[in-house]
Amino acid sequence: MWKILLLLCSFFFVSHAQSSALITEPRLTSINPLNSTALTVNWQFANASVDQSDLITISIVIYEFYFTHRATYGPFNYTFSSSNKSITSLTQNFEWVNAYYYVCFSSNSTKLNTTQFVAVTNDCRLVRTCARSNRSCAGPSSTQVISTNITASSFTIVFLWPIDLPYTPLNFAAQLINNGPSGTTLTVTQNDSFIIRPYLFTNLQARTSYSVNTSVTFNILNSAAQTNLSILTVTTSRAATQRRIDRWTSIFSFYPVIASLFLQIK
Ligand SMILES: *[C@@H]1O[C@H](CO)[C@@H](O)[C@H](O)[C@H]1NC(C)=O
Ligand SMILES: *[C@@H]1O[C@H](CO)[C@@H](O)[C@H](O)[C@H]1NC(C)=O
Ligand SMILES: *[C@@H]1O[C@H](CO)[C@@H](O)[C@H](O)[C@H]1NC(C)=O
Ligand SMILES: *[C@@H]1O[C@H](CO)[C@@H](O)[C@H](O)[C@H]1NC(C)=O
Ligand SMILES: *[C@@H]1O[C@H](CO)[C@@H](O)[C@H](O)[C@H]1NC(C)=O
Ligand SMILES: *[C@@H]1O[C@H](CO)[C@@H](O)[C@H](O)[C@H]1NC(C)=O
Ligand SMILES: *[C@@H]1O[C@H](CO)[C@@H](O)[C@H](O)[C@H]1NC(C)=O
Repeated sequence: MWKILLLLCSFFFVSHAQSSALITEPRLTSINPLNSTALTVNWQFANASVDQSDLITISIVIYEFYFTHRATYGPFNYTFSSSNKSITSLTQNFEWVNAYYYVCFSSNSTKLNTTQFVAVTNDCRLVRTCARSNRSCAGPSSTQVISTNITASSFTIVFLWPIDLPYTPLNFAAQLINNGPSGTTLTVTQNDSFIIRPYLFTNLQARTSYSVNTSVTFNILNSAAQTNLSILTVTTSRAATQRRIDRWTSIFSFYPVIASLFLQIK
């Protein structure tokens, strides 16, 4: 009944000079939280059968976020020849607990005595160290989109933006599919966990399923904007007269509530 379409775009930049030799780049493979204050960045060199570069530089910058706190670690720079590609990870310990880290990995693979190179700038990922107890390493929290206040003729779509998330929100939108009307923006509120953005849909038919396109656009530091799309299906309740007729079946009108609870858990 609902689906989340995640537009996960890669915004790193690859530049290269005209080459005859085979050159390709090392890849960021994973970033793993170790405990509440440390994480490990892992990368992999390309197989020598496809990478004849003999001077590879890797540069890693780690941006730290904890609510309004900001710090930068690095750049951590490495130089490799074709024969000493021995280091494939960086473990960094921090002073903050359960903080967010935006890890940016860049490399430049060159063929000595030529002008050939393949450079990858800023392959960046957002990660989070574990909870203080280290019982959970849940990763970054995510925006939730839920439906509430469902009546026979209206409902509200609410974006819950986690206040600890270091992304900068750029745009929110909620619109009935097939170019239907957009929701009316209601007052934005905030509690200890979320910035709460409601969009009201009115003039709807009773007992009807509506699909709503929702989108959240955000960026971080100077990265290109990313958009998360999701489609929510909300079913309006029975009109008052109908409700009297088949009151005992009204349990089914809880369906959208169940769907939105499920979304909150996600
Ligand atoms: C913390 O939790 C992670 C993931 O569950 C685990 O891999 C790691 O060994 C734990 N570290 C400590 C110090 O307990
Ligand atoms: C987390 O792991 C790092 C790296 O192994 C270590 O230096 C640090 O003491 C650990 N911190 C905690 C709180 O376990
Ligand atoms: C590198 O590629 C060659 C040829 O495709 C293959 O035989 C070899 O197993 C690869 N080595 C690694 C480490 O993947
Ligand atoms: C590390 O590499 C980056 C990117 O190549 C460069 O801008 C910076 O000056 C280097 N820093 C050091 C200390 O070598
Ligand atoms: C690999 O060799 C190059 C050139 O000799 C040297 O500059 C670099 O420090 C070495 N890197 C490692 C990780 O040993
Ligand atoms: C990569 O290295 C080559 C050779 O040193 C240099 O000409 C080129 O400007 C570098 N590219 C980037 C993006 O750093
Ligand atoms: C904040 O509001 C959301 C949406 O109403 C709710 O789910 C959440 O439990 C609230 N959190 C706190 C800490 O009040």
